[in-house]
Amino acid sequence: MTSKPRHVAIIMDGNGRWATARRKVRSYGHKRGVKAAQGVIRSALENKIPELTLFGFSSENRLRPKREVEFLMWLFSDSLKDLSSFVENKVRLKFVGDLDYFGERLLDGMRNAEKETKGGTALQLNIALNYGGRWDIVQAVEAAKSSPKSSMNKGLSSKQLEKEINKHLVVGDVDLLIRSGGETRISNFLLWQSSYAEVYFIDTLWPDFDDDSFKHALKWFAQRKRKFGKTAAQSRTKQSKKGARA
Ligand code: IPE
Ligand code: IPE
Ligand code: MG
Repeated sequence: MTSKPRHVAIIMDGNGRWATARRKVRSYGHKRGVKAAQGVIRSALENKIPELTLFGFSSENRLRPKREVEFLMWLFSDSLKDLSSFVENKVRLKFVGDLDYFGERLLDGMRNAEKETKGGTALQLNIALNYGGRWDIVQAVEAAKSSPKSSMNKGLSSKQLEKEINKHLVVGDVDLLIRSGGETRISNFLLWQSSYAEVYFIDTLWPDFDDDSFKHALKWFAQRKRKFGKTAAQSRTKQSKKGARA
């Protein structure tokens, strides 16, 4: 039996070290990181993964030197200039995070990319920019509080509240979370949504992460036994409703 993740999320880490090892500036590593991301988008399409979320810039990354942050902003803008391959491949783009941080030019680029690709049905591609998992939970709680149906003052049960928060998070539950670059931490990525994700850490630095690396992660995922708290025997008789498709 093969099982595929419905939603894959990736912490694309290791661009700087990749460049430094080649005596290049960090920005060169980021450029190559974009190429690796484009390759992984192709791999996701080929493997018919319905949803992919890429961590492009964390809320904490704002603390990096101004020059590096500015370069990254330029790089994101530049990657949005040519949308033809997204459109051709039916990729639907969505930008998630605290986007008010960005300048009008980049914001326009993001809005335009979302508009131009909104007919995409093959892959939902979420790009997390100025994203933090805690921020996401807080904004979802705020939204849940102000939604008319579910004013917290009216005494929602905790189950109802959980459902409301879930509804307002910027993306849904993750099945497979991949982190390249050798670190074994989550770095404030999809904290709530990864509560039952299978987490795959790989030493490969992001610019070297290729189709084989992606396939390897999928193969590893297919071998996992997802139990969602149940016993192995229970899970064997009934595929859990959450996550993987058989
Ligand atoms: C990840 O690579 C890309 C971003 C955070 C934008 P890094 O820039 O963190 O690379 P390392 O970890 O320094 O090698
Ligand atoms: C996480 O990588 C953020 C992105 C990949 C965009 P970092 O390199 O910023 O993570 P830490 O700071 O080492 O945990
Ligand atoms: Mg890093």
